[in-house]
Amino acid sequence: MSDIATHLAVSQKVDIEGLDWELARTHGLTQQEVNSLLYFADVESQTVHYFLEVSRLKVSRDPELLTFLTMWNYEEYFHSYAITRLLTECGVKVPTASERAEEVRKNARFKAKFEDFGQGMIAWSMPKTFIGLWMFWGSLQECLTTQAYEELARNTSNPVLAELCKRIARQERRHFAYYFNQAKDKLEGQPWIQKFTRGIANLFYAPVGGGVKTDEEGARLVAELFPQDRIFEVMSYIEKRMAQLPGMEGLDCCTRWAAKIQPMLPESTRAKNVPAQFIAAA
Ligand SMILES: [Fe+2]
Ligand SMILES: [Fe+2]
Repeated sequence: MSDIATHLAVSQKVDIEGLDWELARTHGLTQQEVNSLLYFADVESQTVHYFLEVSRLKVSRDPELLTFLTMWNYEEYFHSYAITRLLTECGVKVPTASERAEEVRKNARFKAKFEDFGQGMIAWSMPKTFIGLWMFWGSLQECLTTQAYEELARNTSNPVLAELCKRIARQERRHFAYYFNQAKDKLEGQPWIQKFTRGIANLFYAPVGGGVKTDEEGARLVAELFPQDRIFEVMSYIEKRMAQLPGMEGLDCCTRWAAKIQPMLPESTRAKNVPAQFIAAA
């Protein structure tokens, strides 16, 4: 079955029927879980804007790509919806998923708007390179997102939150697989696209949501989720996966980012052992 056929066969909104909200309330959420969930809900709710930006570009008028983007956008929207529902059921006051999306976008930082512009320029001047970069970037971010939901599922004592995170992570893993396979296809035998993509990753890598959060907010939230040395384990796992793509051997942009943010972090989440080669960055 082709990649897209697989997605068509299984795509659906994340299933929240049958989750025991009463049980979720009994266990409650820690402040740190609330912070992480609000961040996830914000980032998920912005997918529609990435979708709109990319679908405006001529290069994305490929029917198969549009099919994927439609399903992807739909699934991500419901991640935000499901998280918002869980937060509400647990007594956290949050606006609805749609209100939230609008609010976050209003505050979208200059960086997000500048990224739209830069993206448009690359797409217009180098369409093939743009698609390679977009697929690579997508797989990098979906890989982190999968890790984030799995981490939350492992660490929480709330069984309903754990179950919801596992269900979302299953879809994130599928998003990752699509982007990864596409990136492989677009980078294979294309030394210039590989070099360009790698250069952009080295210059601009930051976890998803960078445009709607300040660098410091984003860094703190990621470090709360993967505290101390855990952040380096996760980042190097992601890099190992990405290094399987053509031209990406030895990629270290994620670990370098993790080292760079250390001074912004409160003592409690700061890493104890920054890998030696990145000490200068920290
Ligand atoms: Fe998602
Ligand atoms: Fe995703």
